[in-house]
Amino acid sequence: MEKLSGFRVPKASFILLPMSLVAIIFIVVYPNDLRLQCLVTAGCQPRPQLSAAPKPALRLLLGVFTVPDAYARRSLVRHAYHLQRASLPDDTAVDVRFVLCNLTKEEQRVLVAMEIMLYDDIIILDCAENVNDGKTYDYFSSLPRILGADRAYDYVVKTDDDTYYRLDRLAETLRRLPREDVYLGLRVPCWRKDEGSGFMSGMGYLLSWDLVEWIATSDVVRKKMKGPEDIMTGAWLNEAGRGRNRFDMNPRMYDYPEGPDTCFRHGFTPDTIAVHKLKDDLKWAKTLQYFNVTQGLRSSKLFHIH
Ligand SMILES: *[C@@H]1O[C@H](CO)[C@@H](O)[C@H](O)[C@H]1NC(C)=O
Ligand SMILES: *[C@@H]1O[C@H](CO)[C@@H](O)[C@H](O)[C@H]1NC(C)=O
Repeated sequence: MEKLSGFRVPKASFILLPMSLVAIIFIVVYPNDLRLQCLVTAGCQPRPQLSAAPKPALRLLLGVFTVPDAYARRSLVRHAYHLQRASLPDDTAVDVRFVLCNLTKEEQRVLVAMEIMLYDDIIILDCAENVNDGKTYDYFSSLPRILGADRAYDYVVKTDDDTYYRLDRLAETLRRLPREDVYLGLRVPCWRKDEGSGFMSGMGYLLSWDLVEWIATSDVVRKKMKGPEDIMTGAWLNEAGRGRNRFDMNPRMYDYPEGPDTCFRHGFTPDTIAVHKLKDDLKWAKTLQYFNVTQGLRSSKLFHIH
């Protein structure tokens, strides 16, 4: 060995080499947990959540596209999802995150920072807020890198701040479905049913994690990152023959009922997964009321609601 390498291996390296190997293995296996005192001193406590919480059976990221200045809407949507937490099964982990592009105004750097400090539910991508300029591509393609974990979620949803998802119904539906090559939403156009064409409405659609990873690396996708956002997602998958496990959630996803019924718009139903076109506070309120969101409000001498 000494002759082959052409220099003398110092004696100390017989100790140092195995030690540095152990250190490297530590860094590879526990990249986030590496704390030097664990190697140097005895008695490092394992972090409680690592040992206590079992791995969830279903992990879902719900990315709500919004713009930095939409403070009031973001607050409403955040409240609506927080109130759903209690109805989710213990083994289901849903992370709702607001997805923004670069901040552009002085006040945003303080006001959005406050939201992050309080709620930690904001993702800021490296992009400019422009319709059809590739925010959807930036979102999916950034996730594997910015989440910094292997397969952080089973599924990823892209939705907007005018859509209300019922997370328990979505999770219940997903339990019965495959975990690979899944593209789920409200199929457009809803009157045509040919396979391998069309796309899922931008009100909200879901991809399995393997497709998110594919988007992050595919040349097919990179060449077509700009364009009408939700149509493009369908086009990527159609062109590559992916997303073969397609699930059309019609009639459980639909537009807010105003105007005559169509194949994508009708009255509220109890098995709803998502309602879209919630463009103002009154539409949000009527939707939340139908789903009994404030039914559990306690009575008190301190306020009167009715
Ligand atoms: C977004 O902000 C980052 C960090 O300031 C900057 O490097 C990047 O060029 C910006 N991207 C766009 C599209 O404006
Ligand atoms: C809301 O509550 C009412 C009264 O308890 C009930 O009849 C109705 O089915 C509930 N609606 C939904 C969507 O769960």
